[in-house]
Order: sequence, then structure tokens, then C-alpha cells
Amino acid sequence: MVEAPRALVTPAAGRAGEARSVTRPQKLSQIKSVKKARTKTGITELDRVLGGGIVPGSVVLFAGEPGIGKSTLMLQLTQGIKGSVLYVSGEESLAQLKIRVERLDAKSDNLLFLTATNADKICTQIKELNPVLAIIDSIQTTWVSGLTGTAGSVGQVRETAGRLLRVGKEKGIPIFLVGHVTKAGAIAGPKILEHMVDTVIYFEGERFSAARLLRVTKNRFGATDEVGVFEMTDRGLEEVANPSRLFLKDRLKKVPGSVVIATIEGTRPVLVEIQALVVPTQLAIPRRVSQGIDYRRLQLVAAVLTKRLGLPLGGFDIFVNITGGLRIEEPAADLGVALAIVSSFKNIPLDPQTVCFGELGLLGEIRAVNKTAKRQKEARRLGFTTIISPENYSSINQVAKKLSLPVFHKG
Ligand code: TYD
Ligand code: MG
Repeated sequence: MVEAPRALVTPAAGRAGEARSVTRPQKLSQIKSVKKARTKTGITELDRVLGGGIVPGSVVLFAGEPGIGKSTLMLQLTQGIKGSVLYVSGEESLAQLKIRVERLDAKSDNLLFLTATNADKICTQIKELNPVLAIIDSIQTTWVSGLTGTAGSVGQVRETAGRLLRVGKEKGIPIFLVGHVTKAGAIAGPKILEHMVDTVIYFEGERFSAARLLRVTKNRFGATDEVGVFEMTDRGLEEVANPSRLFLKDRLKKVPGSVVIATIEGTRPVLVEIQALVVPTQLAIPRRVSQGIDYRRLQLVAAVLTKRLGLPLGGFDIFVNITGGLRIEEPAADLGVALAIVSSFKNIPLDPQTVCFGELGLLGEIRAVNKTAKRQKEARRLGFTTIISPENYSSINQVAKKLSLPVFHKG
């Protein structure tokens, strides 16, 4: 093992190298700044999420559920890169890769494919070929000998990533590590690597809808609030410069239960549709089912509507859905959820030119949210004329009255 030769080295000699390289603490002004140019991938949405392109020697963890489109995007990004790219696949054979490349109509002159799973062999190839970028698809299929545990186990994933990382840093070659996550986020993989890598990007979306989102959760070389939007087509992933249009594409107008809200994804405003369906329940405890928003948020909104507008929601099942597979975390969606529920319950459609946003307080008050101007601008740009926001309404009762969604009693 490695330990034996090291024992022959006397402690003093072993530390001599370290003593030479690590000197005294230095002032920032004494450190030479090395301005390295970033490599553009040519995919604007991805470059933006990365903070302006790929930083030399950086290690990016690119995680997502199986089948979401990770390999597809990785292959597509190689297209815009000048210089050779090493694509290591531990999941697909060369023949399968060829089919994929042809399907994507990709040129492959600068692409070098390798099917390998042994991390040391991969490292050797990276050193030898010295590519401008190396992609490892996926980290869960790589392993090192001498370690117990199968490929994909915590120990293996951590060790293989560590070795790849060292080679990348040493040679200044950026590396993308593709990692699978499951819905529960359990399985060994991306989570345990997050602290080791420079950048963590999640690729998200509902498998059966076309929208895909790139979200960066850690970035040593850029902001973490950027989001990239793509659409999966039969020719691969296409960038979506206008996310609102994508999310509102299939909207039915003048149907009760449909509300458009202005939400913020990263730094960009996006308009999406919230749908609610309120039906008499057959159960002792009525159902509350949400897709795309936090279930607890839905319960809170339903409770506020029961108390403040006097809606007898206790006897009704409520289903709420964000169309297009988007997930909204921010409370600014509350008002939209509330109005969609009221609209479905009353069976009264909202004016299709209406957009809303705002957080709902427990007292039925509409609370201010951030980036108001951006949301309003996006709504107007897409031709919406009525904006219901904390700026012009202070309570849910006021809104219900204005939209002639009759209230039972005043809270
Ligand atoms: P893939 O990139 O293999 O996913 P991952 O690497 O994240 O597991 O993409 C898988 C899905 O994408 C597959 O179900 C088919 C679909 N797809 C398209 O719709 N269009 C395409 O051009 C390609 C290549 C894949
Ligand atoms: Mg794949």
C-alpha cells in the first residue's frame, strides 16, 4: 500500500517540501492575481448559471433525476466548446453514444469518447489527453480498487470524486461530474459531494412535461440565484429565452380555477399558471393535494380562506397544481393559490388579463414581496392589464370583493 514507502521517509524530510511551498501568511495585495478566461459553452442559459462560462480547473457537479436530460445537455454543451472534450461514459456503450450524438445532430470532431468506470484509468486518460473539458457520466458508475463497497456507495463516490478533482486542479482542466439523485434525494451521491466541488447545479423538471430548469445551489465563481430554462424537444434541449411564454402556452382562458401569477425564478420574473380544483369531499378528512407548491402552504391558504372569507372548505377536497412542472418556493404565490381556490369554489372564472402576486398573512392581509417592479413589468410585457398585488390591495376580502367573487362574511 501507499503507507509503506511513506514510512521510509523521515518526518523532517517529508515536511521539507511543505516548508518550502508554504511560507508566511500573505496580504491580499501580495498575491498575484491570475485572471483566467472562462470557457463559454455557447449555451447562454448554462453560461449564465455558471457565472459567465466554465472556470479552468473548476469542478462542477451536475445533478438530477435519471432521465431528466443530463447526458443530453452534456453532449450538447460540447458543441460550442473550442478544443477537445473528453466524454467518459460509464453508463452507455460507444454505439449507444453514437446513436445519441446522431440524434442530436451533433458534430463530434472535437469529442473523444471513452467508456470507463475505473477512476484511476480515467485520471490517466485525462492527464494524457489534456482536454479543455472532461465530463464524467456518471460519478455513481466510477470506482477505485482497494476500497470496499460497490460503485455508487458513499466511500466509492467520495474517493473517485476526490481523485478526479485532484487531477483537474493539478492540470487546470475543468471537470463536470454527472450525478443521479432520486426524488427522495437519498442514494449516496451528489449530496456527499457538494462540499468538495466548486459548483453544484441541479437539473430539474417533471419527467412528463417539457420544461427543464437549471438551478445553481453553490458556486465559488458566481452567484447562486441564477436559473436557466430549457425545453426538451425531439432534437434535444432547446434554450428558452422567454420562460413565461413556455409556461402559459397551454392555458385555457375563462375557466374557473385558473390564475396567472408573477413569480421570480433566480433573478428573472416568470409568469405561470396556478390551477385549483375544489370538489365536495367523500372523506371524513378532506384531501389537500398540491403539485409544484409546498403542501403546508396550501393548508395555510385554505385555513385563511375558511376563516377570513367564510368559505366552508372543510367539506371540500382541494387540488392545486402549477402547470409546466415548475416548483415555486416563494410565498408570493399565496395570493394566486387563494384566488384559484376561490374561483374554483365559486365557479367564477377570473378575467384572463389578470396577474397576481403577494404573500397571504394569517389575518387575511396581503403582504409585500420583493422585486415588485420586475414582476409588474413582465406582466405588462406579456399583455396583462390587471395586476393584483400588495401595492393596490391590502386584504384578501378586498380582492374577493373587487373580482366579484362574493364572500360569505367579513373576517
Ligand atoms: P438523458 O439525457 O439520457 O437523461 P439522463 O442522462 O439525465 O438520465 O435523457 C433522457 C430522456 O430524454 C429520454 O427519456 C428521452 C429524452 N430525449 C428527448 O426527448 N430528445 C432527445 O433528443 C434526447 C437525446 C433525449
Ligand atoms: Mg445519462
